Amino acid sequence: MAEYLVCSEDEIADGGRKVVACGEREIGIFRVKGALHAWHNMCPHRQGPICQGRIYPQVIEPVDEKQEVRTLQYNEDNMHVACPWHGWEFNLETGRNAGPAKYRLHRAELAIREGQVYVVL
Ligand code: FES
Repeated sequence: MAEYLVCSEDEIADGGRKVVACGEREIGIFRVKGALHAWHNMCPHRQGPICQGRIYPQVIEPVDEKQEVRTLQYNEDNMHVACPWHGWEFNLETGRNAGPAKYRLHRAELAIREGQVYVVL
């Protein structure tokens, strides 16, 4: 196993991210609800740079009694990253795709020692 120093623990603010090279791989580290999550920067669709996509809350489309969508709402408890290539969305805490559950991000292990964040591969 190899460890790669990323940054100090407080350098990634809640809602923020840092994408780093770890040898031949790129890893995205995100802070969501105070916790750090690390994902390989490779979308399960066509290997796009998922960790560099836009971060935003899950979109909810409430339907009315006529089964029509009139407004969009957002679920701030469920933060997603959208792949910049084709828009597939993934939950930043679970890595699960917003559509078919069989698609998910590949988690990278983190270690935190003395206030420093390391990726362990
Ligand atoms: S490569 Fe990510 S959605 Fe296609």
